[in-house]
Amino acid sequence: MEPQTFYSKSGKEITLRVQTNNDAPALLEYINNLIDEDIDILINRKLTLSEEENYVRECSESMEKGESLHVTAWDGDILIGKSQIKFGDFKERHIAGFGISLKNGYRSDGIGKKLADVVLDWAKNQKEIEKVYLTVFGRNERAISLYHKLGFVEFGRLPDGVKSGNIYVDTIYMYLNTHS
Ligand SMILES: CC(C)(COP(=O)(O)OP(=O)(O)OC[C@H]1O[C@@H](n2cnc3c(N)ncnc32)[C@H](O)[C@@H]1OP(=O)(O)O)[C@@H](O)C(=O)NCCC(=O)NCCS
Repeated sequence: MEPQTFYSKSGKEITLRVQTNNDAPALLEYINNLIDEDIDILINRKLTLSEEENYVRECSESMEKGESLHVTAWDGDILIGKSQIKFGDFKERHIAGFGISLKNGYRSDGIGKKLADVVLDWAKNQKEIEKVYLTVFGRNERAISLYHKLGFVEFGRLPDGVKSGNIYVDTIYMYLNTHS
C-alpha cells in the first residue's frame, strides 16, 4: 500500500501508511493512552516498550509473508489511528481478523471510515481471504454503526462476553464476505 493523504470532515490533514518497526515507541504511547482512557477494546493492561517492539516485529514478519496489513494514521508526527487485518490460522486461513481504533480527539470525523476502507480493500484483493471477522462490545454504538456502513453483518452475540471490573458487556460477532 502506498502512503495516502486526505482531509477529515473537520479539515485535518491525515496520512495513512503501512506500520514499520520504527513506529514501536509511537504505537506504545498510542495503545497505552487508549488503555488509560478505558474505551471499549479488549486489552486492559499497559504494555512495555519491549512487548510493543516484539509485537511490531511480528507484524512486520507477517506483512513480509503477505499474511497481514497494519496501517497507521498520522496527523503530522502524531500517531492518531491504527487498523489491521490478518489471515486466520490453519483451516481458518480464509477468514481474516480485523481491528481498528483512533486516538481521542480524532473520532466521529470520517477518519475511521477511510482507514477501514483502505484495509478492507487490501483484504478484498487477497484471493485467499473469503470473509472478514470482528468482535465488538455490544454497547459500542459508534463502532457498530461504522461496521454496518462497511457492510458487516451481525451473526451472534455472547451475553456478558466481556467483564471489566464488575461490569459485564455483551460481545457482538460480525462478518463481511469479501468476494460478493
Ligand atoms: C470506532 C471508530 C474506529 C470509528 O471511527 P470514526 O472515525 O469515529 O467513525 P467515522 O467518523 O468514520 O464514522 C463512521 C460512521 O459511524 C457512525 N458514527 C460516527 N460517529 C458516531 C457517533 N458518535 N455515534 C454513533 N455513530 C457514529 C456514523 O454512521 C458514521 O458514518 P457517517 O459519518 O457517514 O454518518 C472510532 O470511533 C474509535 O476509534 N473508537 C474508539 C476505539 C474503538 O471503539 N474501536 C473499535 C473497537 S471494536
